Amino acid sequence: MIRYLDGLFVLDTANTTYAFKILPTGQPEHIYYGRRIRIEGASDADILVEKHAFVPGNTNVYDKEHMQYSLEDMRLEFSSYGKGDIREPFVEIIHHDGGRTCDFVYSDYVINSRKTALKALPGAYMAGIGEKTDVALSRTAEGNDNSKTVTREQAETGEEAEKAEKTEKTVTGYDPVELVVIYTDKFYGLVLKLYYDVFYDTDVITRRSVLTNDSGETVDIERLMSMQIDFNRDDLVMTTFTGAWAREMKREDISLKRGKFINSSFTGTSSSRANPFVMLSGSTTDEDKGDCYGFNLIYSGNHFEAAEVSPYGKTRFVNGINPAGFSWKLAPGESFESPEAFFTYSHNGFNGMSRNMHEFIRRHIVRGEWKDRIRPVLINSWEANYFNISERKLLSLAKAAKDVGIELFVMDDGWFGHRNDDTSSLGDWFVNKDKLPGGLKGLCDKIKALGLDFGIWVEPEMTNVDSLFYQAHPDLTLEIPGKDHSEGRNQRILDLTKEEVQDYIIDSMTTVFSSADISYVKWDMNRTFTDVFSQGMPAEHQGEVFHRYVLGLYRVMGELIKRFPHILFEGCAAGGNRFDAGILCYFPQIWASDDTDALCRSKIQTGYSYGYPMSTVSAHVSSCPNHQTLRDTSIETRFNVAAFGVLGYECNLCDMGSEDLTAIRAQIELYKKWRDVLQFGTFIRGRVAGATDEVLGKSFGDLTEWTCVSGDKKRAVGFIMQKLVSPNTQYASYYPRGLDPEAKYSFKNRKLKINVMEFGDLVNTVAPVHIKQGGLAHNIIAKFVKMDGEEEAYESYGDALMYGGVSLKPAFSGTGYSDEVRFFRDFASRIYFMVQKSKA
Ligand code: DGJ
Repeated sequence: MIRYLDGLFVLDTANTTYAFKILPTGQPEHIYYGRRIRIEGASDADILVEKHAFVPGNTNVYDKEHMQYSLEDMRLEFSSYGKGDIREPFVEIIHHDGGRTCDFVYSDYVINSRKTALKALPGAYMAGIGEKTDVALSRTAEGNDNSKTVTREQAETGEEAEKAEKTEKTVTGYDPVELVVIYTDKFYGLVLKLYYDVFYDTDVITRRSVLTNDSGETVDIERLMSMQIDFNRDDLVMTTFTGAWAREMKREDISLKRGKFINSSFTGTSSSRANPFVMLSGSTTDEDKGDCYGFNLIYSGNHFEAAEVSPYGKTRFVNGINPAGFSWKLAPGESFESPEAFFTYSHNGFNGMSRNMHEFIRRHIVRGEWKDRIRPVLINSWEANYFNISERKLLSLAKAAKDVGIELFVMDDGWFGHRNDDTSSLGDWFVNKDKLPGGLKGLCDKIKALGLDFGIWVEPEMTNVDSLFYQAHPDLTLEIPGKDHSEGRNQRILDLTKEEVQDYIIDSMTTVFSSADISYVKWDMNRTFTDVFSQGMPAEHQGEVFHRYVLGLYRVMGELIKRFPHILFEGCAAGGNRFDAGILCYFPQIWASDDTDALCRSKIQTGYSYGYPMSTVSAHVSSCPNHQTLRDTSIETRFNVAAFGVLGYECNLCDMGSEDLTAIRAQIELYKKWRDVLQFGTFIRGRVAGATDEVLGKSFGDLTEWTCVSGDKKRAVGFIMQKLVSPNTQYASYYPRGLDPEAKYSFKNRKLKINVMEFGDLVNTVAPVHIKQGGLAHNIIAKFVKMDGEEEAYESYGDALMYGGVSLKPAFSGTGYSDEVRFFRDFASRIYFMVQKSKA
């Protein structure tokens, strides 16, 4: 809901309010963002507005007509340099005369009943197939449902928005979804439009900006942010998710102090170094209570999130394209659009904020046929074979995969050109007939005949110097001719700023994707940018290369998903080097990390869960010792962790023993029964390893705890995982989240069989004769005797389960074992299943 009340703009979502006001100076002053409040008339906001009587200290007066206003100490909806505000700016421009001062003031506003589509960048959209728009849903609650239903295609492509009729300025009810406020530079005639779109039900607002050059002269844009909020507090904690290859999404909490804290990427991608999703929260906020703001950007290139605490105790947050390495020439009459930012607020802590983000990404970012469709269980050939693939090996793997219930076979890297390692052939997208004599179609037909779907790996944005493509087109890569190139994985980045390169990728991938019955594509991207230079581009435009690359990539992806709507695309960039909402506008899931170690993955997936729903996080069970860490974890723990994402297997099933294969078969059977909950349910973090639970007053030690609940709360899956055992700490409880407190649930664990070998020579404490550890007798016993794991089977109400917790059977503690004991060694885990029986 958007209202204009005599100079005051009020944007309401179901549970939040965002308000700002146009001052007599023409500046928009931010007034409030937080829990929903009642503002019926403009005067209701008087209590929120800062009372400007004089300018503080040695700050500068904005202008002589308004001696009480200093932009340095005001909460602005956007800002620029030159008129007194010396904090992180929203917009920076070099005018034709070299001046850098901007003075944008309010000129008008428009309220639209439909969202306006972005021109070249992806954006959030309002409705899913057959659904009514968010506003329509809210209107229904008001008993005033005159909404219209749009098709999925109309909504997702923005066609719906294009046809939007502009509404009158007097608006009622829940109709308007978009506010556009227009500001004009007093001196230079530039026009800045700020867009606000309200996604009522998910408590999300999006913001973006469009700068139009009406000055008659070319200007240089040095930065144009997507959003800015100035908070009237200086005690916020900023949380970022940083990392590197194979250790993505590590949560970092920084208590903001006077000065700036910047989270940004400069790799050319959104990067594993610093994800664009960040949070601001109160210092006492925890998973379930307290203020939490979440911010993200629909963008896959260099991004920037800055929080600055001013000397006057205000905190400015801005996000957008990273200004480092960016400048854009804007000719007269041209416009430049920023990426769309989306943000939410919850007073229900980190989990409350995550829930909004999850819903929003699922409903308003992810699109296409796979949006709400159950994702298949796949086997990926990478960790099984690496580059060493052949039709024979792949078919053996596929047969073994079919045998355990896998549905989709994915051939990873190594199938094209003469690629046997990472030094060659990217760009030569024709099949290596030595490896696959029947071509892609030949292999695909055989895989399909086994009853599996077929998918492939590609890395279309790259080429190797050792490739026919590069030899023919050395001018189509980002590199500085005649200068040494800083190599990354022996490959060079195609110059996607060029339309001919975009067309080449679209055409070559169209040929590949239509050469066989391909139902899945893993789209990889394995290096970061160096030597950023577009050959042939005029010098004054080189600052545009990073952003033009991203625009080119979006055109390519957009065209290919249009041509191949049935294909399930999975994004990948050396794991999670480009895990962002921009990619998710095209590809519904992303390979979250090249680290498949279950312990690391439990942390990485916890990291992703703050900002992204689990239906977007792809996760695989791999072999042990793990290829990235050499750690051994049980096959059940590997499954339990991967099952909370989109499950796949990435191991050589052909080399696995029958016990592991039997375990995998059972896992997949179980997963198929529960994957609707695991992939599309509400994911809620429980207590986090190492943290002390304030409510329970005791340390949660080394455990991680998750719950995933179906939308109707009828079914839920729980998870606990232990890092390292501490002896004689046998009692633990699992606390589910998100259940219906009034409904009765059955609660069961997944009963396991324990191999006696796991107890080592403790077998001698019960064996009538001495057994040598690892000896023949030990192995024979292990083959035929399996020990029963503990059983947990209870019935109780949702409130008892959630607030009392499920007191689990005691963990093994060095004093004997029976089926009443939880066999729980280092890296052990359990999953639990809850089914609603009845409601009180
Ligand atoms: C990096 C990816 O993240 C891996 O999963 C694998 O596809 C390799 N590239 C193949 O080169």
